[in-house]
Amino acid sequence: VIGKLPKRPWTMRSTRRTFLAAVAAVAAGAAGIYAARSAHLVAGSEPRPLRIPPLLDARKQGQAIALSVQAGTTEFFPGRESETLGYNGAYLGPTIRMHRGDDVQLSVANSLREATTVHWHGLVVPGELDGGPHQLIGPGATWRPVLPVRQSAATLFYHSHVHGETARQVYLGLAGVLIVGDDAEAALNLPSEYGIDDIPLVLQDRQFEAGRLVLPSGMMTLMEGRRGDTLLVNGTPNAFARVPARRIRLRLVNGSNARFYHLSFDDGRTFQWIASEGGLLEAPVELRALTLAPGQRAEILVDFSTGGSATLETARDSNLPMVGMMGRLRGSLAPERQPVLAFDAGVPGEPPIPIPARLAVREHANPAQAVRRRRFVLGMGMEGMAGGGMMGRGMMGGGMGMATINGRAFDMARIDERVRLGDTEIWEVSGEMMAHPFHVHGVHFEVLSRAGARPDVLDQGLKDTVVVQEPVELLVRFTQPAVNAPFMYHCHILEHEDNGMMGQFATD
Ligand code: C2O
Ligand code: CU
Ligand code: CU
Repeated sequence: VIGKLPKRPWTMRSTRRTFLAAVAAVAAGAAGIYAARSAHLVAGSEPRPLRIPPLLDARKQGQAIALSVQAGTTEFFPGRESETLGYNGAYLGPTIRMHRGDDVQLSVANSLREATTVHWHGLVVPGELDGGPHQLIGPGATWRPVLPVRQSAATLFYHSHVHGETARQVYLGLAGVLIVGDDAEAALNLPSEYGIDDIPLVLQDRQFEAGRLVLPSGMMTLMEGRRGDTLLVNGTPNAFARVPARRIRLRLVNGSNARFYHLSFDDGRTFQWIASEGGLLEAPVELRALTLAPGQRAEILVDFSTGGSATLETARDSNLPMVGMMGRLRGSLAPERQPVLAFDAGVPGEPPIPIPARLAVREHANPAQAVRRRRFVLGMGMEGMAGGGMMGRGMMGGGMGMATINGRAFDMARIDERVRLGDTEIWEVSGEMMAHPFHVHGVHFEVLSRAGARPDVLDQGLKDTVVVQEPVELLVRFTQPAVNAPFMYHCHILEHEDNGMMGQFATD
């Protein structure tokens, strides 16, 4: 089955040698990705205090936020320096806080020797302010958008979005948390002492060798996305957090390139899910486990009023393209459970104040208002392929990329869809080979159905990123102009996105 490769299967080097090496690495992949657990072998793998990113509150800074995109070195493990990227620091960025109704002046200075962008994932603003691939900031340049914040309180995510470089730049550190607040949310008296009982948690998996960050490459990383054996929370491996003995709010952000988390506590405790990507749910939902795909966020309340400790864990991520036996083998080699973050709440505190039964009042868009239906298939070039293996038509035929939407790889110069500003539409989205987090810029949407039936519990609320494999129907309303620059829709497995699983739409 191994033959001549098309010119740019995934835009990266595609010699027969790399490809064979990648295949060989599949068998050895277990050793490379999962079994080695290198981070646990280096000195300094003892528990380390969770890093809390500094808070930049726009209201306390005269509505002006300055970000500097920079290269630096980070000691994830003591005495082992890694070369990383960050905003106002060496890895990741500050937490930015904005308030509904405000106009916030950003200045983003790029001190890298390469171009970057900063995309405000989940912020609903016009196309030219979105920070997608069309708002390139060249080396030495500064981008100064004024962001009109007109949406409800929510936990958002900002990150690099340079087409073809997003996965690498984010992996090396170009991401951060963006919090929108509003008066209605403030009136609920939810935990909101930043870093104390209101804690942002950026979850990432990264690969280390001898304690130094490495950037996995090769065909497998292109297919399944970059994975790593070490979990970082806000850049901290083996993290623990001391928290007050009361109810705390966690703002979970999946900042991984490809990994899905299936989160729960080691003692089986329940927690209250209070906000999805678009902001507060109408009412809290009691859960024992929560799945978070790349790009997704969730706010949860966890009761620590009885003190003591508990560890947030994740179950194995088995979302690998099922490439015959090899995929299953790789999946089964991942550890079944991994600790994410250990909490210590000390001695019992006061009984927690009750959680409001109503969190938000929201108008639901009516599916009957939808003026048209569009279908999107997130493709991996595998349709019609016999016998497994990754040498499907996409790989072998006509030089087409494997990562596509509706059979086409992303093209900066092509507008794929035109929508009318103000319209409501139904988007029916499905994915090949594995689950894909489908993300749309410039909108929040609701999930109407999944696999022809009712949506999952975790599909509720306003969203900007949804897991698809079986078809989902999304009700999307277009409220932001994409006239001066288009909006993207794409898979949030960043390697899929970089390699073509992305499209763009403009508004008329
Ligand atoms: Cu979080 Cu288009 O990205
Ligand atoms: Cu986005
Ligand atoms: Cu994908």
